[in-house]
Amino acid sequence: MTGFATPDASVIERLKAIVGPSGWRAPDDAARYFDDPRGRFHGRGHIVLLPGATEEVAAILRACNESCTGVIPWGGGTGVVAGQLSPDSDNAVILSLERMNRVREIDVQDFAMVAEAGCILENAHAAAAAQAMMFPLSMASKGSCTIGGNLATNAGGIQVLRHGNARDLCLGIEAVLPSGAVLSELAPLRKNNTGYDLRHLLIGSEGTLGIITAATLVLKPLDPETVTALCALTSPTQAQRLFAALRKRLGESLSGLELLSGLGIRLVTRHFSALRDPFDQPHAWFLLAEMSGPEGLRDRVETALADFLHEDLLIDVVIAQSEAQRANLWELRERTPEANRAEGAFCNSDTSVPLSRIDAFIGATHRGVMAIQPGLRINSYGHIGDGNIHHNVFPPEGLKKAEFLADHPGLVETVREEINRVTDAFGGAISAEHGIGRLKLEDLERYAGSAKLTALRQIKAALDPNGILNPGALLRG
Ligand code: LAC
Ligand code: ZN
Repeated sequence: MTGFATPDASVIERLKAIVGPSGWRAPDDAARYFDDPRGRFHGRGHIVLLPGATEEVAAILRACNESCTGVIPWGGGTGVVAGQLSPDSDNAVILSLERMNRVREIDVQDFAMVAEAGCILENAHAAAAAQAMMFPLSMASKGSCTIGGNLATNAGGIQVLRHGNARDLCLGIEAVLPSGAVLSELAPLRKNNTGYDLRHLLIGSEGTLGIITAATLVLKPLDPETVTALCALTSPTQAQRLFAALRKRLGESLSGLELLSGLGIRLVTRHFSALRDPFDQPHAWFLLAEMSGPEGLRDRVETALADFLHEDLLIDVVIAQSEAQRANLWELRERTPEANRAEGAFCNSDTSVPLSRIDAFIGATHRGVMAIQPGLRINSYGHIGDGNIHHNVFPPEGLKKAEFLADHPGLVETVREEINRVTDAFGGAISAEHGIGRLKLEDLERYAGSAKLTALRQIKAALDPNGILNPGALLRG
């Protein structure tokens, strides 16, 4: 939603001149910029701009600010809360950073890499690996999501437990502010207390305060050994106990801990015929654990898991013996969002609660949803090591989503509200890693509290007085 009028033809001509003939596309030649990964929204826009350099982004924002034209920054298009999509108006310009995709520099001594906003996450991984280092932010969309989008949304993913969110892996940013001024703070400093930290203000601001054009990212040394294990469990309570035991025994080596459900495994193996449940009998819950560390780690992990088996902290375990087996175990996890969509998920949550309350939270959510409509199916999975659970809710087995929802008007909202209510009651966050976008505006207004909402609006008004940046995302336009 934007409250702006259609941009004047002279403004569009000015924008086209800034980026040159190969730097823009008409909307009817640009379908991919309007796609929603979950198929709920369809974006619109007046023109797609593809700047090739920071100065072009600056000139675009200057022109848009002077003419009060809305700008929607676009990274890899993988966001799931419509932060990159404007479904209600053609009036904004879409600004894709995809041509600004270089790794500008890797400094081994500083353990740092400068990457442009349009650099695809997997390419950043490869650039780090070529120097025997790693950039540890990772998620299923790594082949298409971009560094700029990762930072704009403070993305999380599958290694937060050890390495932190996108925010924790960024030492500095280059960004263009709505006035067109360029903030250039790319020095790889570990400490910098010179006033308000604009880097952290822009990270997670979903493109509403400035457009990040490049960032200095933290690199880490490669770990000599990585061990991946899928543990079969009876309940989230057992998962929580196993989590505590793993953490105590393996400490910092525990880099990722993902919860999978029995339903989730059935769905990925149903919708991806090449995938197999590695156990010879079905189980109710699973923990996919990954440990990375010094030589000798594999022996320590195997001993620990054997002890945990005896202590009834798990029912069974498969430990990957090869890179191919490791990839197979991860594919069961990473294909989950696609399998959920194929199965007809009508509600997808992104909730976080304190680590101590995860099992109780999952139980309470399931009871709450089942009380609304018995027979619904819930796939609860995700980053249990961060207290971040994704609940996906489906019609009863055998029923098609569209017909079922037509027979149950209002159900989607009721289920969503129930999950939010339980999350709030457990002291949790209604958006853990996906952001607010346009999907969760009302949820933010409902749960943020007036002091926070007022401060968010004041920050937005101070940095973007004309409200041109990503209008209607995060805060109402
Ligand atoms: C995941 C996405 C949905 O973890 O955040 O699968
Ligand atoms: Zn996730």
